[in-house]
Amino acid sequence: MPEPARTLVMTGATSGIGAHALSRLTAGGGTRAIIGARAFSTRPALDGVEALPLDLSSLSQVRTFAAAVLDHLDGEPISMLVLNAGAQFRTTSARSADGYELTFAVNHLGHYLLARLLLPAVAQGGRIVITTSDTHDPKIFRSAPARLEVRRWAQAPGSPASAYAASKLGNLLTAETIAALPETAEREITTIAFNPGLTGGTGLSRAFPAPLRQAMRALRPVFILLGRLRPELHMNTPDHAGDILAQLADGTLTPPAGRVYASLVRGRLAFPDPSALAQDPAARNELWRESADLAGLPPR
Ligand SMILES: NC(=O)c1ccc[n+]([C@@H]2O[C@H](COP(=O)([O-])OP(=O)(O)OC[C@H]3O[C@@H](n4cnc5c(N)ncnc54)[C@H](OP(=O)(O)O)[C@@H]3O)[C@@H](O)[C@H]2O)c1
Repeated sequence: MPEPARTLVMTGATSGIGAHALSRLTAGGGTRAIIGARAFSTRPALDGVEALPLDLSSLSQVRTFAAAVLDHLDGEPISMLVLNAGAQFRTTSARSADGYELTFAVNHLGHYLLARLLLPAVAQGGRIVITTSDTHDPKIFRSAPARLEVRRWAQAPGSPASAYAASKLGNLLTAETIAALPETAEREITTIAFNPGLTGGTGLSRAFPAPLRQAMRALRPVFILLGRLRPELHMNTPDHAGDILAQLADGTLTPPAGRVYASLVRGRLAFPDPSALAQDPAARNELWRESADLAGLPPR
């Protein structure tokens, strides 16, 4: 049997957008896929996919997962690193294993640590995609952060909506910083922060009451009409968003030179400017430094 031509390491591959992306990336058999998943032993095996335990709410689990990935790869480089996991909660009182607010810990800090630990293993010409959200932008979402407050987000980020938006800004700033590192330029690594836009029918709203989730799904045609007035209200499907995520990961789609933010706008892929804060080099550096400190890493 021929060796797979490329290697994928992915989080958030077990449901919603990520599950669609995974099945697209592994269709045809040319991809070796390693996914990090919670409760992996209870999940049905996916053909050709190696599942390793990962709960992003624990920094020590992230470290163990990264070490297990490197062990499994045994020197084989990662062609595609896709950091897609994400969660939304109804309160901001829950804490991670390390004592941080859970949205911040799962969406941002766990991925930040994982990206830092796996970056040296990303192939020459490899690709990194981190899933963000247009909710990071105050022009689009009222609860989005207007300034960087990493320590506050790590402890008491305010409402669940502002916690989510801040964590997604964290994903975007992390991608922007990785893209600007000398080592990623030297190794011609493409780094992308992908906003799938409002996408119904995924597990993201699982913390919210079932009737609300059903109503959102049933109202998809209404959201498509609303999207004509406000693009951020256009509702995508998980298949479409997953397809685009897969194409960004395997290089079928790629941003113009120098762009990192890729966004589904009314269902079409665009490369708009992210929020002013996301473009601020000082904010990128501060988030990187503070996150390193919170995750127990040196700044570089
Ligand atoms: N849906 C939207 O409207 C929308 C809009 C913008 C951005 N996004 C982003 O798109 C990405 C995918 O979301 P989705 O809508 O497809 O939601 P989803 O169906 O809930 O998928 C989320 C994925 O993240 C994983 N995950 C959650 N918490 C985790 C943890 N503590 N440790 C490890 N993995 C964890 C889930 O694993 P389990 O199967 O174990 O739960 C699942 O695979 C997220 O980053 C989300 O923020 C979504």
